[in-house]
Amino acid sequence: TVANAEWAKEVRRLAREQDAVILAHNYQRPEIQEVADHTGDSLGLSRLASEVSASTIVFCGVHFMAETAKILSPDKRVLLPDPRAGCSLADTITAEDVRAWRAEHPDAVVVAYVNTTAAVKAETDICCTSSNAADVVRSIPPEREILFLPDQFLGAHVKRVTGRENIHVWMGECHVHAGIDGHTLRERVAAEPDAEVYVHPECGCATSALYLVGSGSVDQDRVQVLSTGGMLSAAESTSADKVLIATETGMLHQLRGANPNTQFEAVNPRAECHYMKMITADRLLESLRTATTEITVPEDIAERARRSVRHMVAIGS
Ligand code: 13P
Ligand code: SF4
Repeated sequence: TVANAEWAKEVRRLAREQDAVILAHNYQRPEIQEVADHTGDSLGLSRLASEVSASTIVFCGVHFMAETAKILSPDKRVLLPDPRAGCSLADTITAEDVRAWRAEHPDAVVVAYVNTTAAVKAETDICCTSSNAADVVRSIPPEREILFLPDQFLGAHVKRVTGRENIHVWMGECHVHAGIDGHTLRERVAAEPDAEVYVHPECGCATSALYLVGSGSVDQDRVQVLSTGGMLSAAESTSADKVLIATETGMLHQLRGANPNTQFEAVNPRAECHYMKMITADRLLESLRTATTEITVPEDIAERARRSVRHMVAIGS
């Protein structure tokens, strides 16, 4: 299938016929972002999934996102156009790992990044996304120990911004973001002295970015650590000629659309998530036609995960 105007018309027609809303993550292919009803970050899309009135949600993203939508809206049908679209970060921890870790710290509060399976979420106390992770941690009484999972770079970022010491961090990582390393970032920042820099907190270079600011070698206003939604808001109001982007390259489509006066360039142009790109024009069409790619979550797991996920959507702006 060619993702042309005919294709888009057919997708929209089928969505109406199926009473479906199409949600797309910021890392999706440009044509998927364009045809969707809403494109956004993990938190924004989770909130939408819990609010929309359509009886079907077609989630153009990865498996844990569709599961999260199903947990929040158990009565809706949730379709993921390619159910094999996983996440290397979510794969770094199992429900059994969480139980064993909690057993070592029985009084701790377990905070899970949304990039986890439903079975893992069911073992946790509260979920977060990259846009509200610090607010979630601040909502926990300071004397309580925290187990933060599974992303080590986001965990380190949250520790820094909250100044909290009693946080233990699981050493997981996303292969795409870990590949955007400090060396590459420092080189690009040095080569482009006037460019602003937006860094996703899952990046291997998130620590370097803040070190550059902290050491005074880079002006504090130039570097910001942001979720994908935060990048979009910052892009809308920037007056910079150029912004270097440290995250998955799908993000560039939204940023360029939001502000045509600024040039947005990837810090690492090879940072592409093949799971996100598994949602193709063909698969979206097929999913709407046949409705066979439904994602379900066993009710006992969904019920235990729901508290954590509802907490997450209620915290932060
Ligand atoms: P956000 O859109 O919440 O910033 O998440 C990024 C991500 O890696 C999702 O897989
Ligand atoms: Fe997972 Fe990384 Fe892909 Fe996001 S970019 S879905 S964290 S593998």
